Amino acid sequence: MLHVSILLLAALAGPSRQAAVRQFDNTNLPALRFNADGNFKITVFSDMHFGMYSWLPRGQKEDKKTAKVINDILDYERPDLVVLNGDLINGDGTFAHNSTHYIDHIVKPMVDRKLTWASTYGNHDHQLNLPAEGSFEREHTWPGARTRRMVPGLAAGVTNYFLPVYPANCDPDNVDGGGKDCAPELLLWFFDSRGGYYHSSVDKTRTPQPNWVDSSVVEWFRKTNAELKCRYRKVIPSLAFVHIPVNATDAVQKHWDPTRHPGINDEVGVAMQGQGWCPEGKHDWPRCKYGGQDVPFMQALAQTGGMMGLFYGHDHGNTWCYKWTGDVQGLPVPGNGMNLCFGQHTGYGGYGDWIRGAREIVISQDKLKDRVFESHMRLETGEVVGSITLNSTYNGDVYPVTPNQKTYL
Ligand SMILES: *[C@@H]1O[C@H](CO)[C@@H](O)[C@H](O)[C@H]1NC(C)=O
Ligand SMILES: *[C@@H]1O[C@H](CO)[C@@H](O)[C@H](O)[C@H]1NC(C)=O
Ligand SMILES: *[C@@H]1O[C@H](CO)[C@@H](O)[C@H](O)[C@H]1NC(C)=O
Repeated sequence: MLHVSILLLAALAGPSRQAAVRQFDNTNLPALRFNADGNFKITVFSDMHFGMYSWLPRGQKEDKKTAKVINDILDYERPDLVVLNGDLINGDGTFAHNSTHYIDHIVKPMVDRKLTWASTYGNHDHQLNLPAEGSFEREHTWPGARTRRMVPGLAAGVTNYFLPVYPANCDPDNVDGGGKDCAPELLLWFFDSRGGYYHSSVDKTRTPQPNWVDSSVVEWFRKTNAELKCRYRKVIPSLAFVHIPVNATDAVQKHWDPTRHPGINDEVGVAMQGQGWCPEGKHDWPRCKYGGQDVPFMQALAQTGGMMGLFYGHDHGNTWCYKWTGDVQGLPVPGNGMNLCFGQHTGYGGYGDWIRGAREIVISQDKLKDRVFESHMRLETGEVVGSITLNSTYNGDVYPVTPNQKTYL
């Protein structure tokens, strides 16, 4: 939420071309697979906001603490995949000449541990001084980047792609051992909800970029998912990641209950895709609160068999999951039972002092047939809060209330 417009852009502007950097070949990374114990674990960091005060000592202090949060959590959790779910860099506060270089600091904890990661970009990753394509290239100067770009065109944004996760007993990389017939057990979908501003190479006048998943991407998602279903002759359970929440989140928030949806709920009135845009597509905040442009994306998700959850960040003060089932008042789209989940603010940059942490997602191969998985929050202190089982009775099951803790720089 919160759109601080730091009018230091003039001072921060400089030559906007950053030197070309050597790419690492990440096309041959081993396929993602469930472990021999049947589990696959994802750590989701969101809202890192590196480079928030790049011109002040405070900025370096914040980034150092954020890096420590990431390092500590990786040591506690040892995930199979890390998801960086948007607002990696606070591009409205970085210098044009080195705005993408913050990627090096963000991915170092994973590179050091030979872990692999996948990103979605957020509104702060799309800025006049920060080209999202540049961050994408910069990610691929390091081994382990799985971030892809599968939908062409300026309107699509960058981070639209999927990653298959294969079963423990089938290795698609083992071509001679029959690996070419392995079917994915799980699909992970990643979307770019864009927002922020077009990069200066596209438009120097600080033009707001639409803040929803583009229709070209929704179309690609529907088509690709149908092709996968056809190719593997089954509905593959899946999870999706995007930075900005959808309007369904705002609608279900009215039914939030601290014992049934453990987490912090300090931001009532969710900042969502389409916020600040009029229905006809003009940006006009605060006259237009919400333009409804995320409806096709919500429809596509809700009509996707096997879609078990959508994970987002953006609202640093909300950290709960809600199971979106059936008709929810005001929503034109009925839910399919998929879980709508916030992450935990990871960065010391970005607004708010809610305790930093990450959302953990634990998927067991043998529970996938029932579309059940587990999740908890791992906090910077090492504490685990908000452990939940996202099964058919979630929304009704009672859990311990998550304490609303704060931490300061
Ligand atoms: C970018 O450049 C500024 C000023 O030259 C410097 O203070 C900052 O640390 C640099 N950031 C990175 C990530 O290199
Ligand atoms: C968005 O959610 C609100 C409830 O918070 C609802 O009143 C409104 O109709 C929804 N709009 C759309 C287009 O889904
Ligand atoms: C769902 O998980 C909760 C928490 O583990 C449990 O209490 C509940 O019985 C489960 N529901 C079903 C249908 O298994």
